[in-house]
Amino acid sequence: MADWHGFYKLSWRERLDKTIENKQLTAEQVALIEAQYDAVGEQQVENYLYNFGVPTGLLPGLPVDGRLVTVPMSTEEPSVIAAASNGARMMRAGEGVKTTIQSRLLRGQVILTDVANVDALQEYVSSNNQALLQAANDAHPSMAKRGGGAKALTVEVLDEQTAIVNVLVDPKAAMGANVVNTMSEAVAEKLTIAGYQVLMAILSNYATEALVKARVAIPVDALATKQGMPGAEVARKIAVASHVEQLSPYRAVTSNKGLLNGIEATVLASGNDTRAVNAALHAYAANNGQYHGLTSWTVQDDMLLGETTLPLMLGVVGGSIGIVPAVKLNHALMDNPTVNELTSIVAAVGLAQNLSALRALVTTGIQAGHMALQAKSLALQVGATTEEVPALTARLQQIGQFNETVARETLATLRHSK
Ligand code: HMG
Repeated sequence: MADWHGFYKLSWRERLDKTIENKQLTAEQVALIEAQYDAVGEQQVENYLYNFGVPTGLLPGLPVDGRLVTVPMSTEEPSVIAAASNGARMMRAGEGVKTTIQSRLLRGQVILTDVANVDALQEYVSSNNQALLQAANDAHPSMAKRGGGAKALTVEVLDEQTAIVNVLVDPKAAMGANVVNTMSEAVAEKLTIAGYQVLMAILSNYATEALVKARVAIPVDALATKQGMPGAEVARKIAVASHVEQLSPYRAVTSNKGLLNGIEATVLASGNDTRAVNAALHAYAANNGQYHGLTSWTVQDDMLLGETTLPLMLGVVGGSIGIVPAVKLNHALMDNPTVNELTSIVAAVGLAQNLSALRALVTTGIQAGHMALQAKSLALQVGATTEEVPALTARLQQIGQFNETVARETLATLRHSK
């Protein structure tokens, strides 16, 4: 059995040697690891070996709150960036996406067990409100100095013995995970001293106090297809598809996955936590007791109206944002948005992504556009060199079939005809 004991204590070179020994890596694999070594990456994660790159492309001209924004998107999936760009193109035919953010607070949960008297707990928190908030803010004073910090406490009773003291924090330009955890632990300490049993203190990623609403109105004519379906017909079908997503959780999960194609790619490129966003969005999709689509599309007169409300807690400082050069570059490509601007951009990308997917689904079907772009990956999959990819994908487009057998045969034919 391979021995990995103490792997984390080794230097990067020693870890690589150990991995070569334990996994019998080939020279080619070692060269790949060496080429992808990154000194910043080594500081970011434990047992670091190499950086796993995610392709990053640009969505140009996303119309958000009166500006046209360039959005870097990091994703491995073909057609996502093209679809988002296509959505932005259609949105530009109207006035673009308009967003509103009413509050931006992150919740910490101090979970108490064996509570003898929940009314007494309510009373304790209410009469010690200022002292508890002060304890939270003293634990991370710079946040209050910036005008943020712990703003409110609420008590939530789960059953006769279990309750949660919620700490609502404004983390200003940060996403806030660390600050909220620190502040929640400070409140937990006070409650422990007061005799309460604290089970844990941790933020909640269900960011319902940080909702962004994004709306767009698109003239239906902008939705007409090259194949001849009139825009009004496309818009009507998109509205029906949107209705179905409110009724069928099976359809809603797929649609929300499509929305997340864009959202996650943008969140990742911006150096934010994709898992936190994913978890919050899926929870919010079940906020009325049944999992539903996160967007709504309706037709009014000659306009297609799109709307989404999303719990989005992002940051423009903190975490990997200040330390990873590519993340800094991505922020610069977006003209260094404020945290609210970034939130609005992400919501708008989601709407654009969902619009394109729905339009494709109710017109040509998804495969026509998606598979045409997936052809490049397919070409690589069947062994084409990067030089051979353009010719092979062009030939596959002519044939109109995108499967491994046809791709393999076509590659062989192309090579033979050279
Ligand atoms: P098209 O109509 O052939 O494109 O669409 P076009 O040549 O008319 O170009 C229209 C615009 O699309 C362009 O505007 C570009 O913005 C963009 P222009 O620049 O010419 O003014 N565009 C591209 N951008 C970058 N690279 C390209 C490219 N081609 C067009 N190669 C397109 C082709 C793929 C855009 C269209 O078919 C489409 O939007 N399809 C949807 C694809 C999609 O949603 N993919 C995501 C993966 S599928 C999935 O996971 C989600 C899903 O299951 C979700 C759900 O079920 O709801 C579908």
